[in-house]
Amino acid sequence: MNTKYPTIKKCLFPAAGYGTRFLPATKAIPKEMLPVLTKPLLQYGVEEALAANINTIAIVTGRGKRAIEDHFDISYELEHQIKGTSKEHYLTEIRSLITKCTFSYTRQVEMKGLGHAILSGETLIGHEPFAVVLADDLCDGNSHGVLAQMVSLYEKHGCTVVAIEEVPREQTYKYGVIAGEEIEEGVYRVSDMVEKPDPKDAPSNLAIIGRYILTPDIFDIIRDTKPGKGGEVQITDAILEQAKQGRVLAYKFKGKRFDCGSVDGFVEATNYFYAKSES
Ligand code: UTP
Repeated sequence: MNTKYPTIKKCLFPAAGYGTRFLPATKAIPKEMLPVLTKPLLQYGVEEALAANINTIAIVTGRGKRAIEDHFDISYELEHQIKGTSKEHYLTEIRSLITKCTFSYTRQVEMKGLGHAILSGETLIGHEPFAVVLADDLCDGNSHGVLAQMVSLYEKHGCTVVAIEEVPREQTYKYGVIAGEEIEEGVYRVSDMVEKPDPKDAPSNLAIIGRYILTPDIFDIIRDTKPGKGGEVQITDAILEQAKQGRVLAYKFKGKRFDCGSVDGFVEATNYFYAKSES
């Protein structure tokens, strides 16, 4: 599509969290490397970015996350072992991703929250709009990936876009929740955002999920954002500053989302993708 706004070329994956809800599995393995069927969560996320024509992948890691770098690299020994055998096809998808994308990494030295993790990625992003994917929110947009849907919306409006979904009211305490006016079907101009509100204080039941398109002024805003709920620098607080200037859209994406940061969501995703692979 022709757009007067800068193209989204980079996708940032904050992947430095401790993943405590998956201990002991995440003691030595990053949460983002847990597999749904045979693919790690992070690989699904990178495939979604590529489906949105984004092939510059920037990953914020932390201590104990080296498996991520090894995954997006060629394993010569393994390739040599299975070359010419019936098992060669198992590596086709990941090999193709490695060829089509570039990967760069930086470390979040202290885990001070998602906002802080995104700020740590500034060195990899520079001064351009970019996408953010939280790989533990696994999305299936079927023929049209969730990030691709969001990029289309960004190309029309040129501002920050957050993905939202309706959640049961009693679950608002788990999410950032928006208030806003619906300007076209499923698209809201955001006027307020609250991080993890009690159901009684939630401005709506429209919850932000782990997909964002951010304009680069967000970095300066995060730098000025004080730690919020849980003592962490919340990305919701920073995006709220843009929303106050009318520069944030919330988009009710088409597709399904699984909270793979929780055991229930992970099991649900596994069953869903298994059923899909069998059909
Ligand atoms: P979560 O809060 O779901 O991840 O953060 P967590 O802290 O790893 O998980 P639990 O609650 O302890 O089980 C959402 C995303 O933000 C990243 C995480 O890696 C995850 O992808 N994150 C969070 C960071 O990169 N740095 C942080 O300081 C916090």
